[in-house]
Amino acid sequence: MTRSASLPKVRLSAGLEFAPALMLAPMEGVTDRSFRRLIVAENPAAVGAACTEFLRVSQTPLSAEQIVREWGQDEALAVPVGVQLMGNDADLIAESALRAAHLGAPFIDLNFGCPAPKVFQHGAGSALLCDRPLLEKIVAATVRASPVPVTAKIRSGIEADDEVEEIARCIEAAGAQLLTVHARLRQDSYRTAPDWSRIRRAVEAVEIPVIGNGSADSPAAIDAMLRTTGCAGVMVGRAAISDPWLFSRWRNQRLGIPAAVTPPSRVHTWLHAYANAMAAGGATERQVLGRLKQSWKALSAGGLLPAASDRTPLTSQSLDCFHQRLGEHLELDAPQIRSD
Ligand SMILES: Cc1cc2nc3c(=O)[nH]c(=O)nc-3n(C[C@H](O)[C@H](O)[C@H](O)COP(=O)(O)O)c2cc1C
Repeated sequence: MTRSASLPKVRLSAGLEFAPALMLAPMEGVTDRSFRRLIVAENPAAVGAACTEFLRVSQTPLSAEQIVREWGQDEALAVPVGVQLMGNDADLIAESALRAAHLGAPFIDLNFGCPAPKVFQHGAGSALLCDRPLLEKIVAATVRASPVPVTAKIRSGIEADDEVEEIARCIEAAGAQLLTVHARLRQDSYRTAPDWSRIRRAVEAVEIPVIGNGSADSPAAIDAMLRTTGCAGVMVGRAAISDPWLFSRWRNQRLGIPAAVTPPSRVHTWLHAYANAMAAGGATERQVLGRLKQSWKALSAGGLLPAASDRTPLTSQSLDCFHQRLGEHLELDAPQIRSD
């Protein structure tokens, strides 16, 4: 790529723009507010949008408190962060969407992809892929109620992908302004290679922008997904955990900016900043430690930490111990821990 290569952008109504069209995927138990904020801060001008992990809507509309707990204060971020809703009652979802929009959410994303058995048995998430009338009703009701754009995220099918075009058209006809297609089926495990041709088929079936998703885990893979599917943008999931700077690396490569190596000290600082942000958000020491260990494993697997032969940080029982062992592991002094 040369310096003149441009970055893809997506424009929705109400002046909403994902620029560049590279999104951080919602991941329950991972992409909480602290993680989202750090990813955005560490990748200036490289993350175009994000959304919350799914908020389950059942029995009653979501309260303002529930929405703010997941989404709150993301209005201060430099990129639009939407609120993702999941459920199967169109009225409750529509009312929750209206509340989220009034609180400041710039867009509402509807989850039609969650494969979890409990969710599926209750007829929500990916189960709606085989109940198109209800899927259409949910999207249409949310679009009617919401003053901000409504988007949707799907898996490519449940056991087969033969209806991906029809599903995409149904979502478009109901008024969604953007569709994210995860190129795996509900029955696929995360180890199954995604079939990107499903993204291309959705792109060809609808006029609205389609965001491709599924193992876009390197700058080359992001570009390949854009090129081979014709999608308007890409959503990055697990690779953001193993390489939090992937977004910038893609942007830099695309613009011809020389790549910078990420030294272990930067990774160490990232883990400290993450711990501080989680603690500031009210997480307990145990919760923070659990997330740090999860990150450590992913960063090691992604090659940003030395080979995971020394696993002592994972046996730490306290945060102090984790950071000390990590420092020893990396042969670094611990970065300054903020006291606020
Ligand atoms: C731990 C985990 C939690 C997830 N939670 C959500 C979620 O809350 N909402 C959603 O739409 N997708 C969720 N997903 C799916 C991701 O957004 C994404 O579609 C998937 O990881 C494929 O992208 P990847 O191959 O780049 O990881 C989750 C995935 C993982 C691994």
